[in-house]
Amino acid sequence: MATFISHSPEETESFAEGFGRRAKAGLVIGLIGDLGAGKTQFVKGFARGLGVTERVLSPTFALLHVYISGRLPLYHLDLYRLNAQQEIVAAGLEEYLTGSGVAVVEWWNHWQGVEPASVCHFQFDARGDKVREVTYEDPGA
Ligand SMILES: Nc1ncnc2c1ncn2[C@@H]1O[C@H](COP(=O)(O)OP(=O)(O)O)[C@@H](O)[C@H]1O
Ligand SMILES: [Mg+2]
Repeated sequence: MATFISHSPEETESFAEGFGRRAKAGLVIGLIGDLGAGKTQFVKGFARGLGVTERVLSPTFALLHVYISGRLPLYHLDLYRLNAQQEIVAAGLEEYLTGSGVAVVEWWNHWQGVEPASVCHFQFDARGDKVREVTYEDPGA
């Protein structure tokens, strides 16, 4: 486990951008943290690192956004509204965790299925108005 302290949304994005640049096909990033903790902000930076040129928006209502303009397909999932594993499966989201692209999943703690071997967990905690503590497993380690 590693820790990163971010002092601004921009800092969270640049932190995430590096992981996007180094991401390999099959990687799953599980984001955990309260509303407003910075999960979507992280995905914006991650997408930029992958070379995504589309605007990244929260998939809270859509459940899934797919971005194909980058080096690898990016599957951006949000499990916030899905509380039972059977709802996640019924929504057809499972297949995106084993795809040929990279999956970044907000509210990963709602996932109750088997943990993919390639998942790296990132936990976000607000430590003040602009300060966020990120505890994470480095995908490159
Ligand atoms: N250091 C920081 N990192 C990320 N977001 C921050 C930070 N400081 C303040 N914020 C603000 O917190 C909010 C995070 O929102 P968002 O990324 O949508 O959260 P989540 O997806 O976890 O619900 C944004 O309004 C952002 O501007
Ligand atoms: Mg979000």
